[in-house]
Amino acid sequence: MTDSSIPKFFEKSHQEKLNIISNFSELTEPELNHLKNATGGIDFEHANKMIENAIGTFSLPLGIATNFKINDKDYLVPMVIEEPSVVAAASKAAKIARIHGGFQAKVDGNISIGQIQVCKEIKTSSSSMLIVELMIDVGDAMGANVTNTMCETVAPLIEKITGGKTLLRILSNYSTKRMVTTTATFDKDAVGGEQVVDNMILAFEFADNDVYRAVTHNKGVMNGTISVANATGQDSRAIEAAAHAYASHTGRYRSLTTWSKDDSGNLVGTFEIPLSVGIVGGVTNDHPIAKICTKILQLTNVQDLACIMASTGLAQNFAAMRALATEGIQKGHMKLHARKQASNS
Ligand code: MEV
Repeated sequence: MTDSSIPKFFEKSHQEKLNIISNFSELTEPELNHLKNATGGIDFEHANKMIENAIGTFSLPLGIATNFKINDKDYLVPMVIEEPSVVAAASKAAKIARIHGGFQAKVDGNISIGQIQVCKEIKTSSSSMLIVELMIDVGDAMGANVTNTMCETVAPLIEKITGGKTLLRILSNYSTKRMVTTTATFDKDAVGGEQVVDNMILAFEFADNDVYRAVTHNKGVMNGTISVANATGQDSRAIEAAAHAYASHTGRYRSLTTWSKDDSGNLVGTFEIPLSVGIVGGVTNDHPIAKICTKILQLTNVQDLACIMASTGLAQNFAAMRALATEGIQKGHMKLHARKQASNS
């Protein structure tokens, strides 16, 4: 099975959903059992090796967004998130994006930046400082450890060359040499007609020109990107930090996405961010569910993961803007909330 558009996926039983995922990604029996038992994937012993002072584990829902087509390949996208509506919204947005071929995404490199601060003693009233930056191709890894190790390793050499004293030796999470861009065209009629498209562009302009709105708008984008980051064991704090810094790269905090109309009146969205992710090393290879999620995505290289994470963010932003520019978001949100309240009472 290679088609990610699975009608009424949300109505299937747990077992039926697992069978579909298994067929799509050729999961093994133990992998299926891990998902079926829904324990969150790691036991206390495992947790205790990951962090200090561990007392237990904490699990969150893992969902699958359907309908994604990115660079002509279909994906079932694993998302870990506690918020209702997000997975359904991403699936719906991806369905509309498919009409015009899905998402076109690209990554411009995987160079991690390491910074070495060199303090130089100069016989004036103030000292001066030099920042030496290392550019490291980290391949399929996120690369924080290797970057930090290299910074610490070359620091004595830098001291020798400059005659200064090195202080901080650390990677920069502002990964501007790992940019990913994704774009998609959302069919005017499927979006809801010309008026809805126009209102969504007004919604974008609000976000692009008002920081209070931009923060919320960008939070909605990151609902998509970070859910996939969580599912695949990425460092979500690094991703968030870089994304929000990039939102200010023009000197003003703005929308991370841009929206306009094409000649036929369809809505075109683009999302560009610095994104440092990895598929080797770290939690990705250590956490059993993260490993399974990586397999569900059938990743062969880290660039594909970056493209998927960005496309999920764009899909999420589309869905949020469409809801906000039409019926509002509470209707969708409250559906699952009501189900939860009913089961609690
Ligand atoms: C909620 O998690 C995200 C939204 O607030 C995003 C937005 O307002 O664009 C719906």
